[in-house]
Amino acid sequence: MCGIVAYVGSQQAAPLLLEGLSRLEHRGYDSAGLAVLSGTSAGVRTAKRAGRVRDLAAALPKRFGGKVGIGHTRWATHGPANDVNAHPHTDADGRVAVVHNGIIDNAAALRPELADAGVELVSDTDTEVLAHLVARSDADTLEAKVAEALGRVDGTWGLAVVHADFPDRVVVARNGSPILVGVGSNEMYVASDLAALVRHTTTVAHLEDGEIATVTTGGFTTYRDDLTAVRRPAHELDVDAADFDPGEHESFMLKEMLELPEAAEHVLRGRLDERFGTSHLGGLNMDARDTRDISRVRVLGCGSAYYVGQMGASMIEELARIPAEAEPASEFRYRNPVIEPDTLYVAVSQSGETLDTLLAVQEIRRKGGRVIGLVNVVGSAIAREVDGGIYLHAGPEVAVASTKALTNTFLAFAMLALQLGRVRDLSIADGKRLIAGLQSVPSHLEKILAGSDEVAEVAQVLAQAESLFFIGRVRGYPVAREGAQKLKEISYRHAEAYPTSELKHGPLALISPEVPTVAVVPDDELVERNVGALHEIAARGGPLVVVTHDTVDLGGLPRDHDVRRIDVPRCERELDPILLTVPLQLLAYHASVALGLDPDKPRNLAKSVTVE
Ligand code: AGP
Repeated sequence: MCGIVAYVGSQQAAPLLLEGLSRLEHRGYDSAGLAVLSGTSAGVRTAKRAGRVRDLAAALPKRFGGKVGIGHTRWATHGPANDVNAHPHTDADGRVAVVHNGIIDNAAALRPELADAGVELVSDTDTEVLAHLVARSDADTLEAKVAEALGRVDGTWGLAVVHADFPDRVVVARNGSPILVGVGSNEMYVASDLAALVRHTTTVAHLEDGEIATVTTGGFTTYRDDLTAVRRPAHELDVDAADFDPGEHESFMLKEMLELPEAAEHVLRGRLDERFGTSHLGGLNMDARDTRDISRVRVLGCGSAYYVGQMGASMIEELARIPAEAEPASEFRYRNPVIEPDTLYVAVSQSGETLDTLLAVQEIRRKGGRVIGLVNVVGSAIAREVDGGIYLHAGPEVAVASTKALTNTFLAFAMLALQLGRVRDLSIADGKRLIAGLQSVPSHLEKILAGSDEVAEVAQVLAQAESLFFIGRVRGYPVAREGAQKLKEISYRHAEAYPTSELKHGPLALISPEVPTVAVVPDDELVERNVGALHEIAARGGPLVVVTHDTVDLGGLPRDHDVRRIDVPRCERELDPILLTVPLQLLAYHASVALGLDPDKPRNLAKSVTVE
């Protein structure tokens, strides 16, 4: 989604802003722009256009000097992606420029009011009203002008403002959309995402909702929205700039998949108790009695976070024997849900920024419910909102398609299920069995990744199909859903997931030699039924890709039938879903590459969906 960068210092701002914007490209965007201040008389100079950051760089005027500036990548919400709607937005005199992430909900009501006052609005955006409101404020300082303007609007924002009358500063504000201030040496940076900062500084302050900050060469000052000062110290973050660089890899997605084993070690480290066959999850902020009192678990997330939430819910139900289910957070919050005091709500989000999930969390807490977060980004909005949680420790995930955060979410769920199970009826022997299984996951992941070339051969063939089915039963069904999601996201093939048991209730009508099926068939108590379904597909000429264990006998399929198998290592059956998911990530990746697409930048999608 949209991205913000800003710079105040002694260097020329434009090249730094362009570099920062290019670091935010993975978030998804359709246009980009800059504004720089070159002195009180010159006003604000802007350059913006639809397309990529490199198009903006190529179109930048030769003389675009200034040591204070703001930049933006826009993901269209109000009005099409064109040059006019791109940010920054300015007032009529070109003295104020604003970049904004989020949505101004009452922009439609404010536009006629501004028009009646003689203001000519030139764009379709909600953001433009902010530029005019700041320009029209009579307040003495830029901070007060921004505070006054924000007092007139409803909605969400992360924003940065420059004003020609205050040429030494950028004023930023946050309400529901992240703003980070990065401290350099006699220079300061601002960004909506750490990725744009880490090359310059890892000393960072996170603004809280409702706060405003002044950023000048000498430092920054933070205020509440009534302009009373509030201390928001900067901290040294434990991040490595290399994490935001694909290095020798062709893409971030490939790099991040190759990091799966190491990421898995990180999420498990220090959290498994072999002696008692349980896990230690101190961040849940719940003692054994709290844990025992839970009578239901509801998992909420969006997209892949929802699918891995389904895997987690069924693992919790199986191991802890607590009724558990998952639901898209985007649906949950619209249906006035009943919040039960003895239900544990679990919000899943890699970014910790997804607005639908954040709003679901806020709704639960507003009604007095207890909610924990399974979140990757430390200090993110969801992480700060929940009552406790489990950090995923996957390291920064840049590719839009979630891979290592997803596998780590599953492992976090496994540890949660273990802890919930062990204060109930899960035996110590079963607890120890699961711990051994969890400890073997990193090496199993290594083996699956070592088979990447064979998966690539399968992907070459599958990528030619216009439409595919993914099927799985019980534990395998969310795996099939996640597989279909990944293929859709980055290869643009039409892929539909069904429970295997539902085949003959509809989709079988579409099976033909042109429509392949990817079937998830673990060697578990349902294997015979699953193999039976493969026969039904084969009898109708449907090509098959079977993700399975080498102990599964697919014998009896018609001779010469188009069937390819991808074997994964055996683990404890409860942990099978995550090992079955990884070949599907590889399959989607290789299909995308085979089709000549860029797996890191899927069309129309963003890494963090920060709007409703
Ligand atoms: C995953 O591959 C997708 N890009 C998408 O479904 C994602 O999982 C979803 O938008 C939720 O994101 P979050 O985990 O950051 O909340």
